[in-house]
Amino acid sequence: MAEPGFEVRPDTLVVTWGDANTCSYPSIWLRDNCPSGLHPQTHERLLDLLSLDAAPVLLSAQADGDAVVLAYQDGHRSRLPLALLSAHRPGTMAADPGAVPCALWRADMTVAGIPRFAAAAVLAGDTALADWLRQTARSGLSLITGLDDRIEAGTQVAERIGFLRKTNFGTTFEVISVPDPNNLAYTPVALPLHTDLPNQEVPPGFQFLHCIANDARGGGSLFADGFAIAEDLRRADPEAFRLLCEVPIPYRFHDDEADIRVHEPVITLDRSGAVIEIRYNAHIAGVFDMPAAIMPEYYRAYRAFMAMTRDPGYRLTFKLEAGEMVVFDNRRVLHGREAFDPSTGFRHLHGCYVDRGEFTSRLRLLARAAG
Ligand code: OGA
Ligand code: ZN
Repeated sequence: MAEPGFEVRPDTLVVTWGDANTCSYPSIWLRDNCPSGLHPQTHERLLDLLSLDAAPVLLSAQADGDAVVLAYQDGHRSRLPLALLSAHRPGTMAADPGAVPCALWRADMTVAGIPRFAAAAVLAGDTALADWLRQTARSGLSLITGLDDRIEAGTQVAERIGFLRKTNFGTTFEVISVPDPNNLAYTPVALPLHTDLPNQEVPPGFQFLHCIANDARGGGSLFADGFAIAEDLRRADPEAFRLLCEVPIPYRFHDDEADIRVHEPVITLDRSGAVIEIRYNAHIAGVFDMPAAIMPEYYRAYRAFMAMTRDPGYRLTFKLEAGEMVVFDNRRVLHGREAFDPSTGFRHLHGCYVDRGEFTSRLRLLARAAG
């Protein structure tokens, strides 16, 4: 790339990059990001922003190899790497190797099309680990195959990413039909498509369900891309979409040990309007408490979303086999299961969660190591 051009104004450095892009860097930003203000080992900021003038006066900018040397009226000199200026162009978010664009899926996703990775490869190598994480982020869903018949075999794969997210159900949980269940998951009944723990302040990010045994009649798994459903609803019924984004509803789990509640909407958007989270779990939704005046309209919207979760055009159905582990973004992909008959055989899934923050951190570290 050609050398950048510099134009010095008292309160701004204007850089014309080799790609002809022109960027303005306010002098207060330049001083705030001067490498001399950072701790040399931790790279945390030691500089006190309030020790600076509101608009430090810039006198000159001189190219110096891969950096620019800036001189200020108060005597300060900065050597700012061009890479820093280029990577942080004002108004543009810096590239993030942890951010993987979502590829939404509907009926085009088939069981054979689910990204699949051998446990041994993911355990042994960082290339396979990175590949698995990127594809899981993209589709929101993947399968790990060839797990040992050991209870901890699945969580060991999950721990390749980072530490596990502990919840009131423990660091790991057993999906087994038990005599005294505190949760529908621990019965043999069908679980309609849902996301886990929308009653948490921050619901768990990625979910891992390692199939130890699936010998009972029934017990097939269901999945649907909640982001695809939300986007289709946005187009087909904008008013329903708006209500699901704007009206918080109660979610609650309670037993003898816990009473965990929030009011949150079904669909969460980021500031640009992109769908970033689905909280949908009809079996732990609390008693709706929005004003009566909007209640019928809200129910209409909620039922429209619910009806889409029943539409075969969105759902993927298959039966997990022992030694497989399904992995999915619990804040995007809805999951469920068909009822099973415990008198016909044993069914046992061993589950855990890893939050999105650990997941994206691992992706960034793997990208850094790969150069
Ligand atoms: C759950 C759940 C799925 C299954 O435990 O929340 O959705 O297949 N289980 O049993
Ligand atoms: Zn669940």
